[in-house]
Amino acid sequence: MVIVPPAAYGPAMKPRVLVTRANFPEVLDLLRAHFEVEDNQADEALDTEALRKRLSDKDGALFLPIDRVDAHILQGSPRLKAACNVAVGYNNIDVAACTTAGILVTNTPDVLTETTADLGFALMMAAARRMGEAERHVRAGQWDGWAIEQFLGQDIHGATLGIVGMGRIGQAIARRARGFDMQVLYHNRNRVPEETEDALQARYVSLDDMLREVDFLMLTAPYSAATHHLIGAPQLAAMKPTAVLVNLGRGGVVDDAALVDALRAGTIFAAGLDVYEGEPALHRGFYELENVVLTPHIASATRATRIRMSMTAANNLVAALTGKRPPNLVNPEVWDRRRQ
Ligand code: DGY
Repeated sequence: MVIVPPAAYGPAMKPRVLVTRANFPEVLDLLRAHFEVEDNQADEALDTEALRKRLSDKDGALFLPIDRVDAHILQGSPRLKAACNVAVGYNNIDVAACTTAGILVTNTPDVLTETTADLGFALMMAAARRMGEAERHVRAGQWDGWAIEQFLGQDIHGATLGIVGMGRIGQAIARRARGFDMQVLYHNRNRVPEETEDALQARYVSLDDMLREVDFLMLTAPYSAATHHLIGAPQLAAMKPTAVLVNLGRGGVVDDAALVDALRAGTIFAAGLDVYEGEPALHRGFYELENVVLTPHIASATRATRIRMSMTAANNLVAALTGKRPPNLVNPEVWDRRRQ
């Protein structure tokens, strides 16, 4: 019997990948050099069934945080070997289900740290200094001149900042805080090394102590069962009435209904939010409040950073589908199993 080598049938089939939503041309070019790429440059929203259908014949995909990758999606994607998120957070992906299915999951740490910290600081300052409210006042043509008690806010310089989640982004916030002569407290699952605490001049405290002491509470923690509603009505009640809360991490870390009540009642002074429970829908109460600054999950949104994030995800996908260990692997056990 003559065995015909696969090449005799024509060029080897390239792996097929899906880019779920619009992305930068250079990212698609990189992927096209390795794969057959199905893109979505029209940026059409894909509901669960549309996503499932498009993934059904794909070997890998570049996902955005808005794509829910759950067990139902995975059941319809028998070829999928790599799920590469264009984000550092990956609570949109059921990692346990991917691990069971032997799918490598990756994220994009580091490349967005500074950009995200910039927006955290901007939200903190905007909420403390009532910038949203003041801007709306000017735009509405209501400003009739300087007044001694107009739009009085809270000082940022010299204040005490509490950071919940002292990972890369938390540390980048702490570095910025030093420039404002702030005292920095932090709370984290694990204490960071003493050298890091010293370099950042940050003191580890319990969450309860932090809530009582801080003028600003900055949340950078990811969402998980352990952080679900970490800040709810009791925690808000423990804070100073002059305090400002910023959520830069993920929706669900804060109980948004409790936050609306606290802002309405003046339990805390103000909030700056970039992420929400159930986004893009948000608690309707926020729309009516003057003392909250709302941004639409844009912490990493500068052109340079979004390109870096997308390129990082694309490089992870190339590695994963060409037999190399992706640099930003979230579930290394899948890789280890493949090597056995
Ligand atoms: C992330 O990377 O997790 C951000 O929230 C996306 O902007």
